[in-house]
Order: sequence, then structure tokens, then C-alpha cells
Amino acid sequence: MEKFEAPIQQSLLQELIELWETIPELRTNEEWRRELLGLEPSFNRILIYIVREGGRIVAMCQFYISRRMPILSEFSYPGTRPECRGRGIATRLWGAAIDDMKAMGVEAIFLGTFDRIAFRLYRRLGFSKLPASLTFVQALNGLSAEEFLADWFRDAGPATLSSGNPGDQLPSYPLIVSQHDWQVLDANAGLMSTRYSLHRTFRGLYLKCANVGNDENGARFSATTSDGKVVGMSTARLEDDGTCAVDGFVHHRYPDSWDDLILAGIGFGGSRGVSAVHARVSREDIEKCQRFAALGFRESGSAPDFVLDCLQLNRQKEIEPISVPAVKMELKL
Ligand SMILES: CC(C)(COP(=O)(O)OP(=O)(O)OC[C@H]1O[C@@H](n2cnc3c(N)ncnc32)[C@H](O)[C@@H]1OP(=O)(O)O)[C@@H](O)C(=O)NCCC(=O)NCCS
Repeated sequence: MEKFEAPIQQSLLQELIELWETIPELRTNEEWRRELLGLEPSFNRILIYIVREGGRIVAMCQFYISRRMPILSEFSYPGTRPECRGRGIATRLWGAAIDDMKAMGVEAIFLGTFDRIAFRLYRRLGFSKLPASLTFVQALNGLSAEEFLADWFRDAGPATLSSGNPGDQLPSYPLIVSQHDWQVLDANAGLMSTRYSLHRTFRGLYLKCANVGNDENGARFSATTSDGKVVGMSTARLEDDGTCAVDGFVHHRYPDSWDDLILAGIGFGGSRGVSAVHARVSREDIEKCQRFAALGFRESGSAPDFVLDCLQLNRQKEIEPISVPAVKMELKL
């Protein structure tokens, strides 16, 4: 096994591109190439592990390690040349790379997959799949995934508000993949709780929120502990009718941060001169409706239904996606 850290040489990148040209199941992209060459802002360390045979790269995998919280890592880009598969190359490479992560002080590794072969390897290497999700987690200190996620937020200390930034990505994974009582976590981002709806992507979950903030008509906020844990997130988006849509969610141990996050969204709308701020809330998220009401929002009609893509209680006893009515909560400015 050989190990490299971005920024890597153009010649190595070219070898990796040639490897991926033989692996049709997974695509790399321009962002990946720029990351490896060090041309993107580096919020994460990027480590690449490869195996060569006869001088040619036959397998690789890659880890992101959060610079803000170096105990968090994300596993990505695992691939073996088709003609070299089934010989245990990935099992050995990934196992050795995970051992290296542990030696570097990483405490938890996150990944997402829907590949059956990779699934077996991940299970064998100690990853656990989260319910209703493509996310796998491995806590390297021996805790189960559920214990790790519960412990992460225990005694995490007070949180402060900030504008969301790309350094939030890995530190927000424990929050996003935890099970929440509210059905809809962020209507602007289309982010649901896995208690009620399947997560059909892993990385995409964070990107849904980030994309709202990256839009010139949007903003994103985070509630973060002093050691960097993201315990709440919110978004705000200007609408064509001159209003602003706000929404957000927190870990249940940080109820007060929710007010701060929503107030930040209201502040964004106010700074852009909107006449009203509104939220689209599931009628079944009764506590969330009450929390908006406590901030001065009033029900102003119905809003488009939410679709919950998961097992639900319903009168027909059917197991299929269901529509849940939504209410529009509005605050005049
Ligand atoms: C997933 C992947 C990296 C595994 O690489 P690999 O070097 O073949 O992995 P291993 O040899 O260690 O194990 C592969 C498993 O498939 C089995 N297998 C048997 N013959 C095989 C073959 N011809 N091709 C692939 N796997 C085969 C192996 O026995 C092993 O099964 P097991 O888990 O029951 O022991 C490889 O299949 C790949 O590159 N897939 C495409 C990219 C991808 O989907 N990556 C994962 C995305 S999350």
C-alpha cells in the first residue's frame, strides 16, 4: 500500500484518472481533480491510499479528514480494476487505511453506499448501516454507531451561531444522520428525518443545505460548539413573491439554538427588505408549529404537502410514500 496526501502531483492524478476510466460503476468529477491538486479551499485533509501491481495502480480509496475536527473522517472513491477484483485487494487496502486512520486519531468514519459488494466489505470491516439510510458509520473506539451518535452530543457544551461554511461538512454529519422527532428538518433543503423518510443519498444530505446557502438569494447558518460540533442548521431563501422562506433543525439537546438559527434566517430576510418571512411546516410536526408560533409566526393557510418516502402509519395499512399536509406559518416584518 502507498499513501499520499493532497495536493498530489499531476502525474499521480493522471494515473488515478486512468484507474477510474476502467471503473464504470463510479464517476469522478472535476471537483475531485481540483481537490487532489489542491486547487480547492482545503477544509479537509485528503489522504489517498493505492495498491500497485507491476507498477500500475490497481486499486485506491480516499479519506477526507476534517481540519476543524480531525477526529471525523469520510471514506470515498473506493475502486479496484475490474480484472483484479475478487482477490481481496480492497479488503486489505481499506483495512490497512482504516488502521492508519485510527493511528492518526480519527474516532469515526462516515460513508454512503448502495453497492452490494461494497456493503459486504464495509460490514466485514466494522461499519454499521444506519436505519432508513445509505449512511454507514464506524466508531473506531469500539462504540456502536448509535452509541457514538448519542455520545457525540452529550455534554458537548454551549453552541454559538455562525454563517454556514464548507468546514461544517464533516462536523455536520452526526447531526444530519441522527434520528430526529420532527418529520421535516429543513423544508428549504428538502431534508427529512430518517424516523419518517428514507435518505437516498449520503453526501447529498449536507449539500442540500449548503446549496441553499450558496445561492445568491439564500443563506445558511450553523450552531456550533466551541470544539466545532455542528448541533443545528438553518437556511433562508428569498422567494419570487418578495418574502423569505426560513427553516432549520437542531439536535434535541440544543432546543435554544433553534430560536437563534431561525432568528438569523429572519434577519437575512429583513436585510434583503422582504415584507414577510414564512415557513412550510408539516401539520404533524406539532412542536415545530408551536416553536414558530412562539417566535411570532401565525398560520396563514396551507402549503404544498410533504412526501415522506418511508414506512408510515396510515389508515390503509399500506407501506408506501405518503403525503403529509403542510401549514404555512408567516411572520410579517
Ligand atoms: C467494491 C470493490 C472496490 C471491491 O473490490 P475488490 O478488490 O474486488 O474487493 P475484495 O476482493 O476485497 O472483495 C470483493 C468481494 O466480491 C467477491 N468477488 C468474487 N468474485 C468477484 C469478482 N469477479 N468481482 C468482484 N468481486 C468478486 C469477493 O469474494 C468478495 O466477496 P466477499 O465479501 O463475500 O468476500 C470493487 O468491486 C469495485 O471497484 N467496484 C466498483 C466501484 C464501487 O462500486 N465502489 C464502491 C462504491 S461505495
